[in-house]
Amino acid sequence: MPNSPIIIAPSILSADLGKLQEEVASIEGSADWLQIDVMDGHFVPNLSFGTSVIKGIKTSLPFDVHLMVSNPADRVDEFIDIGAKNITFHAEAVKESDTRQALIQKIKDGGATAGIALNPDTSLSEVDDVIDSIDLLLIMSVNPGFGGQEFIEDVLGKVKEAREKYPDLMIQMDGGVDDKTAPKCIEAGANNLVSGSFIFGSADRKAAIDSLRSQ
Ligand code: DX5
Repeated sequence: MPNSPIIIAPSILSADLGKLQEEVASIEGSADWLQIDVMDGHFVPNLSFGTSVIKGIKTSLPFDVHLMVSNPADRVDEFIDIGAKNITFHAEAVKESDTRQALIQKIKDGGATAGIALNPDTSLSEVDDVIDSIDLLLIMSVNPGFGGQEFIEDVLGKVKEAREKYPDLMIQMDGGVDDKTAPKCIEAGANNLVSGSFIFGSADRKAAIDSLRSQ
């Protein structure tokens, strides 16, 4: 996947949810995707939002749904119904191979691409069973649950390993991605970057997004 354009997916978890439509409008024209962080307060200690909030957003940005939930299969239909482009679930939430494959197929049958996510402590080999079925591998660079956390440098080795083994796979990174860490992510082989507090904490969101693309 060398030289493929870097996809930037701002995470709305760090946006001002009291003016969500305005916040999304502020990144249109520069962001590629919009990341929707769905948290159940069980798989991760935080609770975020579901389709009742998201379906009201008017945007041309495709929804990249990151399910940080214990039962992702229960959430897929509602996000397919609102036209999600990509739906990612966590390997740590679905451990059984047949169940993972069935969930990936359900997501694809619904017209979305399917991703699987690895927490920082989860090794790449954990998803050997489904790597040929997924469209996207999300390598977390924080422990999921909150925006604004410190980037965990150790995961870069996992990104390098994944890029070497799977040259054509879309590899997404998420957590602590800013103008300092983005070059390290790209260098390691990521071609899709999620960023929340860096982008929504910037006065000039376009400049912030563009700064993440520069290699
Ligand atoms: C963390 C979420 C991330 C987070 C990114 O659990 O999955 O998407 O919102 O926020 P920053 O970029 O601030 O780490």
